[in-house]
Parts: sequence; structure tokens; C-alpha cells
Amino acid sequence: MAVRVDGKTFFLETKNTLYQMKADEYGVLKHLWYGVRTGQDMEYLLDYPDVGFSGNIYEADNNRSYSLDTMPLEYATEGVGDFRISAVGVRYQNGASALDLRYESYHVEPGKYSIPGLPAVYAEEYEAETLEVTLKDTASDIRVVLKYGVLPDFDVITRSAVVINDGVQTVMLNKAHSLCLDIPYGQWEWVHFYGRWAKERTPERLPLLHGIQESSSKRGISSHHQNPAVLLCREGCTETSGICIGAVLMYSGCFQAQVEYDQLNQTRLVMGINTHTFCWELEPGKRFYTPEVILSQSNSGMEMLSHQFHRLIREHVCRGRYKMIERPVLINNWEATYFDFNEDKLVEIAKGAAELGVDMLVMDDGWFGKRDSDASGLGDWYENPLKLPNGLSGLAEKINDLGMEFGVWFEPEMISENSDLFRTHPEWAIRIPGRRPMRSRYQLVLDMSRPDVQDYLFDVMSRILNSANITYIKWDFNRSVSDWYSELLPSGRQKEMPHRFVLGLYSLMERLTQAFPDVLFEGCCGGGGRFDAGILYYCPQIWCSDDTDAFERTQIQYGTSFFYPISSMGSHVSAVPNHQTGRITSVKTRGITAMAGSFGYELDLNRLTQEEKDEVKFQIGLFKEYGPLIHNGKYYRLSNPFEDKYAIWEYVSTDARKVLVQGMIFRTEPNMLRYPIYLRGLDPKKKYRLREDGIIYSGNALMNGGILIPKAWGDYVPVEMYLEAIDA
Ligand code: GLA
Repeated sequence: MAVRVDGKTFFLETKNTLYQMKADEYGVLKHLWYGVRTGQDMEYLLDYPDVGFSGNIYEADNNRSYSLDTMPLEYATEGVGDFRISAVGVRYQNGASALDLRYESYHVEPGKYSIPGLPAVYAEEYEAETLEVTLKDTASDIRVVLKYGVLPDFDVITRSAVVINDGVQTVMLNKAHSLCLDIPYGQWEWVHFYGRWAKERTPERLPLLHGIQESSSKRGISSHHQNPAVLLCREGCTETSGICIGAVLMYSGCFQAQVEYDQLNQTRLVMGINTHTFCWELEPGKRFYTPEVILSQSNSGMEMLSHQFHRLIREHVCRGRYKMIERPVLINNWEATYFDFNEDKLVEIAKGAAELGVDMLVMDDGWFGKRDSDASGLGDWYENPLKLPNGLSGLAEKINDLGMEFGVWFEPEMISENSDLFRTHPEWAIRIPGRRPMRSRYQLVLDMSRPDVQDYLFDVMSRILNSANITYIKWDFNRSVSDWYSELLPSGRQKEMPHRFVLGLYSLMERLTQAFPDVLFEGCCGGGGRFDAGILYYCPQIWCSDDTDAFERTQIQYGTSFFYPISSMGSHVSAVPNHQTGRITSVKTRGITAMAGSFGYELDLNRLTQEEKDEVKFQIGLFKEYGPLIHNGKYYRLSNPFEDKYAIWEYVSTDARKVLVQGMIFRTEPNMLRYPIYLRGLDPKKKYRLREDGIIYSGNALMNGGILIPKAWGDYVPVEMYLEAIDA
């Protein structure tokens, strides 16, 4: 049993972890523990100090040590004595904003709850159990239902909350977070993932200083700049040892993760929709659903935590036909042609690629409306006859005749001011009346909260998908959203817009993915600006970054790998000198880096030398062999490319029989020292043969003695070693 209830103490047990809380004599829901499975009521750890200026709840009379301000709480509120960051806040019609949530009831049921209109982890009934704990503010009749999904075999607990207005007056909900996690003991550090366009998800590990630290986005997208996923690491936690907790928000819009280190050295993490861009009018009888947070805990370092998230996201977040199967190796024309292409050029690129074993051609931006640069055309989703004289279907046929599949780029949520759509429906673009909107890449954003906009996009995209043999869509989004305003909302509800925008996007994605189950949808947002578990619910892969430089990608993919599975990272071999950095690396080095993802090419392969073409053909063959190991195996970060002189990673099959070590040595030095790389995840008792030279090593030796890094000559030297167990 995953959920056990003893009186009013709740035990949420997974294979290795225990999450525990208790409603006490005042009905306050206290958080007791999230950590190793102790089998014990952990309340004995709670201390109740008498702290000045931390007041006491009304019923506690003279008990000066009973304060909401000092206790670990399950879902912290505002205005009633806890002065730390809160998880939920309301404003009543009289302007007051206190919310005093006390325990009312609980309910347990088999399976995993779902959330109306929002992505959520899904599971079979036998794989999960759901606990609902209802809290109530008696004065207002506002209830909060805390939802917990427990997946024992995955060591995962999900959280989400529903705020219900059972009162008689409309209230303003100005905060409704998905997660509040209090950790009373221990010195913790937190890791967040920052960046910018073409430089996403750099991990930054910071000590907790007294006060509040934040990682967030107000851009309408989860963003390149911060990612809605954070780690809390107990001091000393490494890749392979120590305690850490990971929290991933399944949300693709403005988010907020805050961590507070309080007066008693306690740690609180809250996570959810960004409060700066949120306020929701909650009428009597109405409910508000928060997005979901996926929580996991590891006692064996960050590597194990990553394995837990990879498996969960791959098997219980991603959906559809493509979630577990090998994706087609594709060629995308963006960096090969940018806007300057036509049918002949694309067919030439496809021909060259087909000869080398590529499975699919993806036609990128520029095929529709009047779109010869990024200044016009978004919204006009009909083919440009000058570029595609035989239309989409004619081109698709030619590509299919080469034995390849055909995919198409879209940027559905955008509108160019210079477009027919804008001339017909200027009211669909997000703008504030009487103001000039911020421009970005000459485009405005469609008001996705409008049902007519959603219907238009569904119809136009369905028409195109039905008009030709298209089996892949790259779904892009190329600016941050500003000037929030929706014509359809009254003034008091304008702050609902950023969240309604995301709900509109999810609704459209749900309709399209259901209507076209055989189409592979790839998420994209100027590269990885919307790389989050919300998008992964609809698209099993996301273009990881607009930076295709192989060296840079080792860092970006390293950061991304803390939470997101390898199969979710779109990754391509592009031309050299690289278009973002000017760096020159070999085809082999680029291939190895791109294989650490959903693999493809983004250049005109016809322009390569014969030797390079042979290498491409060879590496596609290799990827077809290694792909299942890369995507289904366990992934190990054997080095830190931000600190080490090389980037080395490893994939190990679940039965520990197949091992692939790949990466690159950044710079060669004279008389180079050949460091040993210590492999991980092998069976110490097994013997492994290295394919490259036939030498046999024991698993024990490979893990404890290591294997010497290859001799290098030049820079960005590829590393590749494949080992297979030779005994039973
Ligand atoms: C974004 C994408 C690129 C490409 C361009 C096209 O930047 O990330 O891969 O599709 O848009 O405009």
C-alpha cells in the first residue's frame, strides 16, 4: 500500500522514500518528513520553541511555543501568523486576505488523479495511489484539496492543489502554488538552471542564505532564462552519494520557485504559477486547479535522482505512439537554407540525406504565406506557391518517393503584423488598447485564451495535416509575451490572462495530438525556451537549443539531463564553422554529441566531402544500433563539462550488459596526462569486452580502476567506447 493513514497521520510510501504529514489537535496540517523510508512516525523530531514575534494561534491560549511561523507546514497560508513565503493567498471583498486552513477530511483511491485542462503524470490503477486531504477556512468556506499521487515503484510523489470557493462571496485568488515543502533540519543547497537564448539550463548550485531566493519566469513561457525544475541538495551531496530532492513543475508558462531559509534555519520550497502575473476571480461554487509538481528524493546522489525522473517522464509524462519507440533520424533545412529555399532545393537536400540513411525531411520556417524573412507571414498557414509549386502534398510525395517521411514547421501561437491574418483579425493579437506593443522578431502573440483563436488554429493545422502526408510537426514559439491583455476579459480579470493563455495552448495541443495520433510533435521555443514537463506531455521531444555547436551542446545537454530524459532532447549535427560560434569540430565529434538526444542533421549533406559523407552514413548506422541503449538505458554524467577538460557520459542497459561511453576531450595538451574515467552502473562480477580493441575488463576494474581516456590529438576530440558483457 502506498498510502497509509494512522489516525490523522499520513504515510506516503514509495520503494525507498517516506513522505509524512499530520493534522494535529488544532487541525493544522504539519509536514513531518520527506526522506528515507523510516517506517516511523517522525513527529518526535518536531521542536516547539518559544520565539518572540512569532505569534500563536488563537486556540493555543498560553502555549507560547505553538506558532505557525516556526512549524513545518504542509500548505502555508497568508495573514494568520506564518510570516514566511506562503503557498496560497486570497483577497476578500472587504479587502482582507487572511486564510486559516485547517484539516477537514481525507480520501484515498487507487490510481493517479488527473487535472482538468492541465498535463499531469498518468499511471495505471495498480501503479499509483491518490491521497486527497481537504483543508478548510471556516470564516470564508474556502476549501483547499491537496492532492498527492504516489508512484511507489518510481519513488515519485506528485502534488497539486484545488482551491474551492464554497462561500457566498467572490474572492480574488492571488496565489495558488502547487507545492509547499518544509524541511526543518539540515544544511541544504539548491540547484537551479539559468541561461539565455542559445545557452539554456546552466546548473548553478547555491548555498541557502537566510531570506528568499527565487528562480522564475514572467515571460509567458517557462523560458531559456530559468527552468521550472529545481534540486535541493543536502550539503556534501554529489552525483553518486548524499541526499537530494528534485521538484519539476509541469507547466509551460510564468512560473515561480522560491526557497526560504528561515529564522530557525529551516528550509521551505514553494513552486507554482508566478504570483506576479497571476490573480484569479473565484466565484462561489468555482474551483481553481493548480498545475502539478513532480517530486522525487534520492539517498544516493543526483545521478539516482536523474534516473528516477528520466524513467518517470519517459513512461508516465510523455504519451502517444512515439514515447518509447525510436524516433526517425531527421534532416532539418533551417541552418542549411534559412528562408531561402524552394521545392527543388529541399528535394536535393533530401536526396543527399536519403542516400546516407536519413529517415525524414523536416521543412522549417518559410514555407507559408509571404515569409522570406522573419518580418512577415506568421498566421498565414497556406503554402507559398512560389516556393512550393506543387504544394505541400506535391513536395511530400517527392520526399516519400525517396523513402523518407516528411515533417513541417509551425509557429501557431504567433502573428506577424504584416500578414493576412492580422489584417483580418487584428483583435486576435495580444495588445493593450491605446498602447504600442513590444515587438520581438517583428511578431505579436495570438490571444490563446480565446476559443475562436484556438478553433482557428485547430482547423488550419488539421487542414494542412490532412492535405499531405505529414508525420511530424515542429511546434515553435519565438518570443517572450508582454502587454498582457485580452479583449474578452473584464478589467478585474486581466491578470488571469497569462494562465488562460497556457490553458488555451494545452487545449489546442490536446486536440491536435488526439486527432493526429500518428504525427510526431516536437516542441520548440527558439530552441529550449519551453523545455518543460508540461510540453513533454504533448510532445515527446523538444528542440534543446538553437545553439548547435557540439562543445556548447555538451554543457546544455548536461544541464538538461538532471531532470529530462535523453530521448526528450532534440539534437542535430550542423555545419562548420558553426553558425552560432564559428567553432570547427569534426563530423564524428558533432555526431557523438547529437546522438545524446533525438538525433538528426541540420545542414546540406551534399556539401560534405566524400570522407565526411562516409562518416555520416556510418554514424547513422551506429545510431540505429545504439539508439535503444541511448534512450532506454541509464544515463551517467561521468564528468562535469563546466569544470573538467572533457565531457564524458555513459549509457548502461537496464540489464547492465551493454555500455556505451561517449563524449569529447576539449583540448589536447602536450604530454597529455591520460586520466582514468570511472565507469558506473556495471555489474562488478561481469566481464566486458571493449568493441574497439577486443580487450576484456572486469566490471569491478572498470568501475574502480577506471579506463584511461583515449590519446588525443587536436581539439574537441571524440571519445567513443562500446563494451558488452561476455559472460552470463
Ligand atoms: C527558432 C527555432 C529554429 C528555427 C527558427 C525558424 O529559432 O528554434 O530551430 O526553426 O525558429 O525561424
